[in-house]
Amino acid sequence: MKFDYTKYIRTYLLSLTPYKSAREEYEAEGRPMTLLDANENPFNSLVNRYPDPMQRELKKEIATWKGVDENQIYLCNGSDEFISNVINGCCEPGKDSIMIVPPTFGMYKVSAKTYGVGIQEVPLTSSFQLDVDSILEIADENSKIIFLPTPNNPTANNFDLDAVEQLIHGFPGLVVVDEAYAEFSSNPSVIPWLAKYPNLMVCQTFSKAQGMAGARLGMAFAHSDFISFFNRIKAPYNINSLTINAVQKRLKDQDKVKQEVDLLLNERKRLEEAFASISFIEKYFPSDANFLMIRVDDSSIRYKQLLENGIVVRNSSKNLNCENTLRISVGLPQENNRLIEVLTTLS
Ligand SMILES: Cc1ncc(COP(=O)(O)O)c(C=O)c1O
Repeated sequence: MKFDYTKYIRTYLLSLTPYKSAREEYEAEGRPMTLLDANENPFNSLVNRYPDPMQRELKKEIATWKGVDENQIYLCNGSDEFISNVINGCCEPGKDSIMIVPPTFGMYKVSAKTYGVGIQEVPLTSSFQLDVDSILEIADENSKIIFLPTPNNPTANNFDLDAVEQLIHGFPGLVVVDEAYAEFSSNPSVIPWLAKYPNLMVCQTFSKAQGMAGARLGMAFAHSDFISFFNRIKAPYNINSLTINAVQKRLKDQDKVKQEVDLLLNERKRLEEAFASISFIEKYFPSDANFLMIRVDDSSIRYKQLLENGIVVRNSSKNLNCENTLRISVGLPQENNRLIEVLTTLS
């Protein structure tokens, strides 16, 4: 696909000479080498060597899993790192902006602020859907990235995919579709759209359904020109060997992940049913993720009461149009039982 990615990135970074380890030049040959190039401790401890900066083996497996080319994959220290990289790589501080659609995931704003990048906010509609017309009206030539988390956090719902597609057509910059909760969603992933839309980037994570939040592995999928750009600006060894090994193991265990996801979806349904009969829960919002947002009579009081009973949830009330809401993750059956038991006894 002929495409000029340079108009989306900071021109100043085009001339950057990336850090290159000596080993990278020879690794591709695949023959055993005496490694005296990186000042490591030569005694084997399983992790005494630096990891492959390009994570080639793992990317091969992910490429087959996701149906993309290896050169369309960027691996990062959680999707949080990708969010930071894409803002830093594409937005000129003091000049460019990202666009977000509140209520939305908090890290987009935090990351933009750390880089001195502007933030344009276009609220979701009353049903927490994308307001396409307003987004396109407000976007200008300095709107470099719009972040669309679907399913959305904290509201848990999916965005309408036709609206997402309209934005990919009409938005002047990059459209990042954040599919952190993809495995729980009833919508298909938009990864196949990468073949037709070079201004689209999709990110997913091992932190949620894959059950590896502690290992920190995020994945971004994009046009190969963007991926090689990210590879040039990233920290050389951003994914550690322990994570690479653990993820390779987990990839072989996708039947188990599917079972866990199915169980959590059943548990979500069970929680919804229980919430319906609790008088101070005014509403639960439809969820396509592994959490539920509920509206209660007084979120500060209910939050505190749950805490006193040893249950930590998230008070999501500070988010735009989320007054008196709590965000609750779906836990193990016994944890959900405990939550229902406590909620039922609260007055
Ligand atoms: C929508 C969304 N995107 C990204 C992330 C960050 O995920 P990771 O653990 O991969 O950094 C989260 C975490 O809660 C999230 O809700």
